[in-house]
Amino acid sequence: MSEKSWTEIDRTIGRLFASDPAAAAALEASEAAGLPAIELAPGHAKFLMLLALIRDAKRILEIGTLGGYSTIWMARALPVDGRLISLEASEEHARVARGNIERAGLSKVAEVRVGKALDWLPRLAEEGAGPFDLVFIDADKENNPAYFDWALKLSRRGSAIVVDNVVRHGAQDTTTHSGNVRSFMELVAKDPRVSATVIQTVSIKGHDGFALAVVTGEE
Ligand code: SAH
Ligand code: DHB
Ligand code: MG
Repeated sequence: MSEKSWTEIDRTIGRLFASDPAAAAALEASEAAGLPAIELAPGHAKFLMLLALIRDAKRILEIGTLGGYSTIWMARALPVDGRLISLEASEEHARVARGNIERAGLSKVAEVRVGKALDWLPRLAEEGAGPFDLVFIDADKENNPAYFDWALKLSRRGSAIVVDNVVRHGAQDTTTHSGNVRSFMELVAKDPRVSATVIQTVSIKGHDGFALAVVTGEE
């Protein structure tokens, strides 16, 4: 099957299953502000929302906000007393995301915290922000092992941890980035605290994949 046909099919999937006007407006505003178009494909963002619904998630943590596209989709699954915290290093991305979240009518449940995720995560632990039912890791990939560890500290049995882009550029070749990607897979695969898998994907964003880990231990 060619790249062209799966791209077309993914556009159809997005249109049929993931056409939320506020999410579409968020994409437009992000593009207008010059943010890179590296958000989730619509069908994958919807999948995260469905995961949050399956988990009956009340607390969601996101690492890597960009313009708030995935944030908006996940926040849609929250009850009125639910809470999503999204961590973003870039002031500019956070500013755009806050506008998008506000326009989506979600600022009561979703907040963006500006700063490096590794500075925020210990503070979240201190303030007792967890345990989170769903954690979405989608920031600087070299910190994925540390983020995964924090996700575990801030979650509980049954929590779901999703890590984006674990296949990007092909996990089997020998470039440094992919080397990191494969070693991250190995790390998740052997972690006794979770039961996990990696799903490869094709979408409007090309060939990629995400890891899904469910916390099985008592930690
Ligand atoms: N989850 C978004 C896409 C995130 S793109 C979506 O699907 O809509 C990755 C984001 O991570 C970028 O906005 C980037 O600025 C941010 N980022 C990079 N390094 C970071 C760090 N150390 N801490 C927090 N955010 C970081
Ligand atoms: C890219 C895609 C992503 O989903 C991401 O989180 C970072 C970068 C990319 O296409 O370069
Ligand atoms: Mg990503």
